[in-house]
Amino acid sequence: FFNVEAGQPGRQIPSTLFGLFFEEINHAGAGGLWAELVSNRGFEAGGPNTPSNIDPWSPIGDEGSVLLVTDRSSLFDRNKVALRMEILCDSEGPNQCPAGGVGVYNPGYWGMNIEEGESYHIVLWVRSTGSVNLSISFTSSDGLQILAASNIIASSSEIQDWTKKEFILKATATDHSARLSLTSSNKGIVWLDQVSAMPVNTFKGHGCRKGLATMLADLKPAFIRFPGGCFVEGSWLRNAFPWSQSIGPWEERPGHFGDVWDYWTDDGLGFYEFLQLAEDLNTLPIWVFNNGISHNDEVSTSTILPFIQDILNGIEFARGPSNSTWGSVRAAMGHPDPFNLKYVAIGNEDCGKPYYRGNYIKFYYAIKTAYPDIQIISNCDGSSKSLDHPADLYDYHIYTSASNIFSMAHSFDNTARSGPKAFVSEYAVTGNDAGHGSLLAAIGEAGFLIGLETNSSDVVEMASYAPLFVNTNNRRWNPDAIVFDSWQQYGTPSYWVQHFFRESSGAVLLPVIIQENATSALIASAIRWNSLENGEDYIRVKAVNFGSSLLTLDISISGLPVGSISSSGSKITVLTSDNLMDENSFDKPEKIVPRATEIGNSGTDMNISLPPHSVTVLDLRLD
Ligand code: AHR
Repeated sequence: FFNVEAGQPGRQIPSTLFGLFFEEINHAGAGGLWAELVSNRGFEAGGPNTPSNIDPWSPIGDEGSVLLVTDRSSLFDRNKVALRMEILCDSEGPNQCPAGGVGVYNPGYWGMNIEEGESYHIVLWVRSTGSVNLSISFTSSDGLQILAASNIIASSSEIQDWTKKEFILKATATDHSARLSLTSSNKGIVWLDQVSAMPVNTFKGHGCRKGLATMLADLKPAFIRFPGGCFVEGSWLRNAFPWSQSIGPWEERPGHFGDVWDYWTDDGLGFYEFLQLAEDLNTLPIWVFNNGISHNDEVSTSTILPFIQDILNGIEFARGPSNSTWGSVRAAMGHPDPFNLKYVAIGNEDCGKPYYRGNYIKFYYAIKTAYPDIQIISNCDGSSKSLDHPADLYDYHIYTSASNIFSMAHSFDNTARSGPKAFVSEYAVTGNDAGHGSLLAAIGEAGFLIGLETNSSDVVEMASYAPLFVNTNNRRWNPDAIVFDSWQQYGTPSYWVQHFFRESSGAVLLPVIIQENATSALIASAIRWNSLENGEDYIRVKAVNFGSSLLTLDISISGLPVGSISSSGSKITVLTSDNLMDENSFDKPEKIVPRATEIGNSGTDMNISLPPHSVTVLDLRLD
């Protein structure tokens, strides 16, 4: 049996408990959450020197009709590489251009998603000599079907100097693997730089892909940790996330090569955009910054000062007054009010490295002196022994098998209740149990989260799954919570498990009594929460059956005044599937999703079946 003592005051769960961890991994941002369609929009991905690899840009037309080279003639000082496109054919004569012209195309990140009726905001920088006309279009991947087109330059006399061209293309047909083409049929030379194509319709108008950002919003996250992970560290410091070069006008951002996950990002999704996303998700931003340590090199504590100043600048950018040096840069970007930055993490997984402790302490005191209210997160695990340095929270990462994570419900039982709190900032089942996101993994994680909620939410203040996103064309890490390609997305069972916990942050944990000899395959909890949407109170019982036999749970709710449970609005929701290793897929995106059944007036005593390998949630609406 499972008795919920609903009349007891219970214990408040931290309002920050369940949130998100976004890392630029698996093309989560570039070619993912960030809705920019053009890959390598400034031609910098091949490096700052020329000749430079312009991949994935490619020529339209043969070598006799178009010549593409790179030079360093860009208008933008921090990203000098531009594309020089020489049209060798002409509108008439012996070397006549083919119908449709010649030029260059960009296939985006494994194809652009162009949808009929949708509008796309195009910006490009261009200059020319000769009499080149230039057309821009979205076409099918073979270039044959035009989805949207415009003549952007009728005569090159107007663009002898670098000129910004900006307009809207509206698509008349749909293609999920389209490309952007720039073509001409007049002899001459055109230079191109900073070519951008963004859907007009993005999440809250701030540039994130709507379908993906909505999946994040649906989780009602209490926080979002960003931008990594290893991405923050870099394999080498020179490739660590450069926050200060990821702000300001996008055209001027140099972009950088993320050498841990091995791809270039134009840094369209930069520090400002992360903060804006947190605000748009109504959640707390948690900035993980580089503390002078990468996977392979370190800055010594005696020379760490420039790094500290850089991070203080970053905090001022995020939350300084709009007339401060860096706050004014934020204001110029359109956000005069400070962002709500209250948490920072000093490094990622760097504890134990030679200069971590020394660097950490210097960062810690510099930040606390300037911003006493900022909560500082250490990389050193304080769950089994006290930290040897001051911190408000400490990072705890766990990647393991399903049975291990399921059995970790008591991991924090012996952790000191005073001192810094734990931030389980990365957890997931990995390896053979996980596949590309299995039911088994999700069930194990659900057990772990119930353990956090019931046994440790007085010492664990935050928890987030990792990684969040994977572009199916670049799986660097398995599994992930949300899988997508150019146009579609689905949640793995691990994503859906997080839905069951989205009301827990800030809820009241109710005391429960579980039958003493209950099977170890069962773990359950009860919370009372208030819906912000309808103002109603609910009791939620969550139960995970990790075993292969059906279980029956006799639930009784005690301590409520008679008639408290409403006759409508209560339901049972189950997440399960026929086979442990079942997964969702683009073909069957909803094979394993929570399935709800309304229940009438259940009264205070009920009997519910817990299918083998399942998470079952009972929601009782209170009158
Ligand atoms: O989540 C994937 C990686 O796992 C993160 O980058 C790192 O922090 C951890 O090792």
